[in-house]
Amino acid sequence: MGISVENLTKTYTVGNTVINALDGVSLDISDGEYVTVVGSSGSGKSTLMNILGCLDIQSSGKYILDGEDVSKLSDNKLSEIRSRKIGFVFQSFNLISGLTALENVELPLIYRKIPKQKRREISLSALESVGLLERANHRPSELSGGQQQRVAIARAVAVDPEIILADEPCGNLDSRSGAEVLKLLSDLSKAGKTIIMITHNEQTAKQAQRLIRISDGKIVNNLFS
Ligand SMILES: Nc1ncnc2c1ncn2[C@@H]1O[C@H](COP(=O)(O)OP(=O)(O)OP(=O)(O)O)[C@@H](O)[C@H]1O
Ligand SMILES: [Mg+2]
Repeated sequence: MGISVENLTKTYTVGNTVINALDGVSLDISDGEYVTVVGSSGSGKSTLMNILGCLDIQSSGKYILDGEDVSKLSDNKLSEIRSRKIGFVFQSFNLISGLTALENVELPLIYRKIPKQKRREISLSALESVGLLERANHRPSELSGGQQQRVAIARAVAVDPEIILADEPCGNLDSRSGAEVLKLLSDLSKAGKTIIMITHNEQTAKQAQRLIRISDGKIVNNLFS
């Protein structure tokens, strides 16, 4: 089913200034594709990602996710789709500082009302898959940046989403930790997940099967490698 976007726009008005953050984006992404999105700062990458992730709604145009017109759904239905279908990984990790690695990974499973024992099992296995089982009881401040991002990936995959959205996941990491994160994303891609990753790094971008280049809210390139 996948993602289908048609003539998407997103307009922000700040004072007298109108900003066309997205200016007529059309795009199809099939299930299981690994796509990177590149473009300069302010080109509209995060705006697009937030709409694809059902965190925000377009000003006009269509977004069909697995056959459903997302803009027509209620907030409740939208957050339900988000928690079931989409895993997020952010540049700044977005872990909750007062919770351990394990508790952070468990959080989306609590929202999904998975019972405690099952939750623990899934979360420990997700932490194991990112090589951090022995850090389960550490808080984010007791982990390196690369380890924190791996916890964030474990949290994203714990609910077994179809789609992983990653906005500059290596942006705050040294090259070795960045490479580990990219390897995990590439493994998830091989396991059949749809991956959409924003990056500033052209070298990183080329690792995906497809590269989408955005400039001033428009797609200027949509290349398959
Ligand atoms: N909430 C907002 N209100 C007003 N303008 C916004 C808002 N969010 C984004 N913009 C504007 O929309 C444009 C696109 O922003 P966006 O965050 O999508 O860029 P980006 O490509 O992700 O940039 P970066 O690489 O710096 O993260 C920018 O000009 C930005 O200033
Ligand atoms: Mg951004």
